[in-house]
Amino acid sequence: MTSSLAAADSRTHLRSPRVLLVGAGDRGETYAHWIARETYAHWIARHPDRASLVAVAEPHADRRAAVVATHRLPDSAGFTDWREVVTGPKLADAVIITTLDAHHVAPAVAFADAGYAILLEKPIAPTEPECRRVIEAVRRNQVVFGVCHVLRYAPYTKLLRNLLAGGRIGEIVNIDHVEPVGFDHYAHSYARGNWRREDVSAPMLLAKSCHDLDWLQYVVGRPVRAVSSFGGLSFFVPANRPADAADRCPDCVLQRSCAYSAVRIYGEHLAAGRTAWPLSVLTPSPTAESVAEALRTGPYGRCVWACDNDVVDHQVVAMEFDGGVTATFTMTAFSTSRPRQTRIFGTLGEISCDAATVRVTDFRTRQTETIDVPAPSHAADPLLSRHDGGDAALMDAFVTAVATRDNDWIDTSANEALTAHQLAFAAERARREGRVVTLP
Ligand SMILES: NC(=O)c1ccc[n+]([C@@H]2O[C@H](COP(=O)([O-])OP(=O)(O)OC[C@H]3O[C@@H](n4cnc5c(N)ncnc54)[C@H](O)[C@@H]3O)[C@@H](O)[C@H]2O)c1
Repeated sequence: MTSSLAAADSRTHLRSPRVLLVGAGDRGETYAHWIARETYAHWIARHPDRASLVAVAEPHADRRAAVVATHRLPDSAGFTDWREVVTGPKLADAVIITTLDAHHVAPAVAFADAGYAILLEKPIAPTEPECRRVIEAVRRNQVVFGVCHVLRYAPYTKLLRNLLAGGRIGEIVNIDHVEPVGFDHYAHSYARGNWRREDVSAPMLLAKSCHDLDWLQYVVGRPVRAVSSFGGLSFFVPANRPADAADRCPDCVLQRSCAYSAVRIYGEHLAAGRTAWPLSVLTPSPTAESVAEALRTGPYGRCVWACDNDVVDHQVVAMEFDGGVTATFTMTAFSTSRPRQTRIFGTLGEISCDAATVRVTDFRTRQTETIDVPAPSHAADPLLSRHDGGDAALMDAFVTAVATRDNDWIDTSANEALTAHQLAFAAERARREGRVVTLP
């Protein structure tokens, strides 16, 4: 069930949940006074009648202090580590866990055992056994639980599902879905940044695209039965480094012509007057000077061919769903940053769409209808409109589920999220072993 503000407002008799934030980074934090960040705590700040943030656990003093100040919390509500909270008396109804990928399992299991409702950033965990540990803890304790597969909550997904359910293109036969990561986003996050190595993060398909695999199963409405996959890390490897490239972009003679120069990529953000992501990842207070210093000394100034990265830069996944529908998914670093693009081929028509526009062609009438996706209710707020409004809608659903103790408000429950992750693990096995993998 997808919740809505209107539906939730009709339940005003319900207590507004108290929320603990674990990890006040890009995903979790509200906004420090100097930068705009994403997102979940910001939703709470904007909806004081729906939920209240009562504590934060975050080792970075500046991030912790920003949350404490923004939500007018006492200093005692700022903890340096989630372990300090979970071992004490229960101080909230729910916890939002937005630590990095490899640090999801321990807090998720511990807070489930302590009886907290949990909103967990994706991926649940980097390996299948760890994912199962989390899901078992959730089931054992019967706590409200959701995974942040935000694409399910974006308005275009709702529109698309309504069109499909209404038979506008007959029966789905196959789908072609592309995630154009963006050459600059890839360089930032996957060559230089936090998601560059499988051993500190997760395989790229899981880290970046478990959303898409989940979304495809959601749109088709059936699970995948068999999968194959190809791809690898082909370009961002030392062998492709130009002979005269320096180890660091600020020292490099190619910095004006290289597409992946950190000086160019971050300089363009500075020139546009931005201070939020990705600059906020380099330095807490982005200025020309602090960014230049980060490029001279930090990981984000490294030549993209001189990093310790190992995640793929392109991957395709071919899937067969229960009932015979087929789909292909392509993730590529070699694109500009833009919304995902999908084509759905049916027995009576076809649909092509991205987050903003859906085009429906009907084979019977030979007509094509172009539908503008309704803007999310928070379109004017750059933080709340992240992921095309999916972030805000997810928070709405989670808070309603906690208030009503009814997990049905959350589309990405434990079972569905686990299924999506199992598909990503199966696709990775298929790619590494060069074979078709069947799912149970
Ligand atoms: N749903 C989405 O579309 C989406 C998008 C981007 C990122 N993510 C996921 O969100 C998660 C967070 O990503 P991010 O970019 O916000 O990372 P981040 O590094 O900005 O934030 C993580 C925060 O966790 C804090 N932390 C570390 N150890 C802690 C501890 N013991 N107790 C409390 N806090 C601790 C860190 O100090 C940091 O501030 C990742 O798993 C990432 O893959 C999801």
